[in-house]
Amino acid sequence: MIIKKVAKHKLIFQKRLQQKNTLQSISKIENNTLQLVLKAFKLAKNNSFSKEDITAFKRCEAYRDTLINNDSIINYEIFGINDTATVSEICNKAASKQKWCHFLYNIAKELTKATVLEIGTNLGISGTYLLEAIKGKNSFFTTMEGLPQLCEIASKQFETITTPDNFKVVQGLYDITFPEVMKNERKYNLIFIDGNHKKEPTLQYFNVIKLNIKSPAIFVFDDIYWSDAMKDAWSIIKNDPSVNFTIDLYEQGIVIIDTNENIKNKHFSLHLSY
Ligand SMILES: C[S@@+](CC[C@H](N)C(=O)[O-])C[C@H]1O[C@@H](n2cnc3c(N)ncnc32)[C@H](O)[C@@H]1O
Repeated sequence: MIIKKVAKHKLIFQKRLQQKNTLQSISKIENNTLQLVLKAFKLAKNNSFSKEDITAFKRCEAYRDTLINNDSIINYEIFGINDTATVSEICNKAASKQKWCHFLYNIAKELTKATVLEIGTNLGISGTYLLEAIKGKNSFFTTMEGLPQLCEIASKQFETITTPDNFKVVQGLYDITFPEVMKNERKYNLIFIDGNHKKEPTLQYFNVIKLNIKSPAIFVFDDIYWSDAMKDAWSIIKNDPSVNFTIDLYEQGIVIIDTNENIKNKHFSLHLSY
């Protein structure tokens, strides 16, 4: 545990030492999607937001507050686990932190006609930010979750942001729902992979989704340093021949696939937040 923490802080320290140079190197590359991610990163890092964004963030965080004060019991039966947790406990443990939600929101907001796929709805915190970013822009949000009670809570929340024809919460175990979702005709340009942090499923999601993208597409992988297996998955994904750019943020890994770009497998490393 201590060794893992030391390794984490060493890596982050190296990122921070190089940050200025890395930001300069990225800014010199003429790729619109890479520049979009860079802008999203800088705005989140510097807390530089418009009044409209700040108002949207207040709504998102007000939703988080209701969850933190919700003691309803959620059961894990669908995963074959005889266990329960309160909404409040789940929210504290699993939902994305504010800084990372801001970053995701910034990316989604800049996309024209966003088609977003999220693997890992949970209580819909990241989904709330994503929908706030894309609502009213001829966009669509698909999100997938195993626990039926969480799907119900998230769906109700999403209906406070937009109408049900702009999003779909797909309930069920990914082994069953992922192939079904991939069968539909939709092509995605923002994919947030934040559920089932294991090597084989992560690679499977990437390998299948990359064939169902609307290029240029941005993948956001959460918890790329979660385990040695996830580190392996990240390393394989980074070096996939379809990949143009990656940014390692430690907590998350960003992948850009742009079929009109000649540069391949160009990797960067930045630090957004602990
Ligand atoms: C880390 S949480 C997602 C957090 C959410 N993106 C947010 O930031 O608010 C991951 C979710 O994936 C779901 N999940 C994990 N493995 C799954 C599987 N094999 N099938 C269905 N759902 C799964 C869990 O129930 C959990 O709610």
